[in-house]
Amino acid sequence: MSLPRHILQLFFILMISFVSRYFSLPIHDPPYNYYLDETFGYGSYDSQAYPSYLNTIDDGEFKDFINLRTQILSLENVDTSPKIAKIVSVDDLGAKGDGADDTEAFMDAWKEACSNTGTGAILVVPKGKTYRLKPVRFSGPCKAFLTVQIYGTLEASDDQSDYKKDSRHWIVFDNVQNLLVEGGGSINGNGKIWWENSCKIDKSLPCKEAPTALTFYKSKNLVVNNLNIEDAQQMHVSFQKCKNVLASNLVVTSPEHSPNTDGIHVTDTQNIRITSSTIGTGDDCISIVSGSQYVEAEDITCGPGHGISIGSLGKDNSKAYVSGVTVNGAKISGTRNGVRIKTWQGGSGYASNIKFLNIDMFNVTNPIIIDQNYCDQDKPCKEQSSAVQVKNVLYKNIEGTSASEVAVKFDCSKSYPCEGIVLQDVNLRREVEDEAAKAECNNVDDLAQTGVVSPRCP
Ligand SMILES: *[C@@H]1O[C@H](CO)[C@@H](O)[C@H](O)[C@H]1NC(C)=O
Repeated sequence: MSLPRHILQLFFILMISFVSRYFSLPIHDPPYNYYLDETFGYGSYDSQAYPSYLNTIDDGEFKDFINLRTQILSLENVDTSPKIAKIVSVDDLGAKGDGADDTEAFMDAWKEACSNTGTGAILVVPKGKTYRLKPVRFSGPCKAFLTVQIYGTLEASDDQSDYKKDSRHWIVFDNVQNLLVEGGGSINGNGKIWWENSCKIDKSLPCKEAPTALTFYKSKNLVVNNLNIEDAQQMHVSFQKCKNVLASNLVVTSPEHSPNTDGIHVTDTQNIRITSSTIGTGDDCISIVSGSQYVEAEDITCGPGHGISIGSLGKDNSKAYVSGVTVNGAKISGTRNGVRIKTWQGGSGYASNIKFLNIDMFNVTNPIIIDQNYCDQDKPCKEQSSAVQVKNVLYKNIEGTSASEVAVKFDCSKSYPCEGIVLQDVNLRREVEDEAAKAECNNVDDLAQTGVVSPRCP
């Protein structure tokens, strides 16, 4: 019985550190000139004066989160009693892990684990085997805490006809609250067939959507820890409409030329922390899109790929809202972009209160870029006057090398210029030593450059 106890303890530790971290985290919407004040050293931050993170989510959610903590605490207290989490191994439900399809067994195991009413259930994917799966949807709500221990490998069916019903998803956790997924195993999207049939690779083919390997949808209080996610059909991991998420120790890999294979995608999700993860794919390491708020990425190793992106936002004249994003501590190498904000012309809404801190770049083509004329389509995008407003963006302590001449590029909207951009201690050189790096800064209102900034906006 030492296994479940160990797991519960880990869950406990993770959730507690998650919760306590957020108790002290000064994430909030700062006043407009917050970064400027901070930069110039007067406007010190007073955590008492502003609502803390916890006040920004509504009372019901707050209580849920505290309840979770209390429940986990009491789980710990009854640990010596026979009330122990139920273990459901997929092998007990008939999964073979021999290359044949195991989807049925996984669905049966999920049903059993999810309907368990005791102190929680642990769904186990044993080590040393590879389980082949068609698209699967693990739906909640479940009766109690659920842990999914993936020790072995999950491998996607590469028969595209298996995805007829839903060509956008492979594995989905749908509406599951209080969930821990971990185990050190692998989730392999087997994406080659999808990449070969992508219109980005074969220009003669029509553009079609491909599945995201692992999706968490409408889930709250989620810990995803210690997993390898590789060779996704399209995106690797997506958090969509989730709240209170800790994603840590993830290793996400796919080839540099695999199309649209974002590493970790955050959409319409609030209060998410991504830490200690290594991501190298064919597209963005992390992409954060509309509806996302209070996103923290810390200790991220990124490359190859397209870097860490906010956006794209505002496609097809859509409204987009992203705020409270902090990227703190990243090593980005050999990527097309470093830290990027990208918006389409014609959108509306805002991307605001964004901090990029303590970032090392190595040979990155566009280390710092705001691109408000983003256009990822074959035909040219026509000029439009509306735009997603970009404001209050701090770049602090960023250094390293640029593969191209333009190391800092702010290509902001003419009609909605970027506001409140701060460069503080930014030092970017060209990877090719004897050439100078440049900054191109268009349509930026109240730009501040403090400390050592090189190259500087003219
Ligand atoms: C830097 O990147 C360029 C193109 O992106 C590549 O050709 C070059 O080999 C890289 N240099 C190093 C030192 O990695």
